[in-house]
Amino acid sequence: MKKVEAIIRPSRFEAVKQRLADIGIHGMNYFEIRGFGRQRGHTEVYRGSALQVDCVAKIKLEAVVHDEALDKVLEAICSAARTGNIGDGKIFIYDVADAIRISTGENGDAAL
Ligand SMILES: Nc1ncnc2c1ncn2[C@@H]1O[C@H](COP(=O)(O)OP(=O)(O)OP(=O)(O)O)[C@@H](O)[C@H]1O
Ligand SMILES: [Mg+2]
Repeated sequence: MKKVEAIIRPSRFEAVKQRLADIGIHGMNYFEIRGFGRQRGHTEVYRGSALQVDCVAKIKLEAVVHDEALDKVLEAICSAARTGNIGDGKIFIYDVADAIRISTGENGDAAL
């Protein structure tokens, strides 16, 4: 199992959520966050901006998926989230050691 953590533009969230539902994702969480990347929150880098950091509103989406679904999930997020401009976001991928479905006691892939 893999955990996919995607930080995306709020304006792309509905499209990404719909794409993930379309490909049959089992569950996900999202968080309203603020953060910065390479441009430190600025839409363009200009003289003097290096010292000042602004944080921009983003959505952080997380989903734990079967290993075999990972490529499809990443493609779905990228294609729905991309505008082609800076600030489109970033995806982090983690190994998941185990999962437990509390209602049934199932674990591992069967718990998703
Ligand atoms: N290295 C990082 N670690 C954790 N979060 C990050 C990192 N880089 C970016 N983020 C998060 O992702 C959001 C969007 O980042 P962003 O798309 O601007 O990345 P970038 O590295 O600046 O790439 P780009 O040049 O395409 O803008 C940031 O606001 C922040 O919340
Ligand atoms: Mg950026």
